[in-house]
Amino acid sequence: MAGTKVKPDQIEVPGGITDYGVPHVAIIMDGNGRWAQNKGWPRLAGHRKGAERIKEIVRVAPDFGVRYMTIYAFSTENWKRSTEEVLGLMSIFARYIEKEADELSALGVRMRFIGERGRLDGKLARLMSGIEERTKDNTRLTLTVAINYGGRSEIMRAAKKLALDLAAGRISEDQLDEAAFEERLDTAGTPDPDLVIRTSGETRTSNFLAWQAAYAEYEFTETLWPDFSPAELVSILSRFGKRERRYGGVKA
Ligand code: IPE
Ligand code: IPE
Ligand code: MG
Repeated sequence: MAGTKVKPDQIEVPGGITDYGVPHVAIIMDGNGRWAQNKGWPRLAGHRKGAERIKEIVRVAPDFGVRYMTIYAFSTENWKRSTEEVLGLMSIFARYIEKEADELSALGVRMRFIGERGRLDGKLARLMSGIEERTKDNTRLTLTVAINYGGRSEIMRAAKKLALDLAAGRISEDQLDEAAFEERLDTAGTPDPDLVIRTSGETRTSNFLAWQAAYAEYEFTETLWPDFSPAELVSILSRFGKRERRYGGVKA
């Protein structure tokens, strides 16, 4: 229910509170615009509602074994939208950080951001660095927010860093491997996602975690992001826990 604090023990799941073995969940939070338009409201109303949803999910996820959550908030392609929508989203992000910093920190959330920060407003960029610094010792859940993020842009920037390090002699040719590349991605230090969820019925990845999700499982739900509930997350996690991941091998 909107605005209601959902406690983990209020979610009816077979087996109750349990670790479903999904340490890293990534979410493409899609459908805010349609949610608002369905009600005859401006798209930004959907984005505001969508932002409110995040906390409920963050609050319960760790009780079900989730240690890392990565959420797609703004893609490198989203600049194509109207100035009104882009500026509106940026101000929602800034306000969200200002308003929720205390509570996220109290919940034991460590916040990180991925994406190219150079194009963001200076105030927003400062708020982002500030909350990263402030929450860096929290351990209950690492929440990574992707803002001005694109998988291809991230891979390109990592490739450039590697080329510069090679040219400067900071790394040698025989040290060029996947680990050296991963160290230069925005997500360095975070394990790959086990599961990627996309809401709103679209079944594409839209440039999200192109490198990191190479072996992730995918779940698509018709639910629009502002309607996505902790109970639905838990139901998806419980289904995921039953899947067999073979990584190219054969069943033992
Ligand atoms: C996702 O919702 C949020 C962002 C991309 C910023 P959309 O704004 O894409 O919502 P739809 O897909 O138009 O309904
Ligand atoms: C992906 O959603 C980006 C985010 C959720 C932030 P979009 O709505 O922008 O993606 P497309 O346009 O449907 O591919
Ligand atoms: Mg969309």
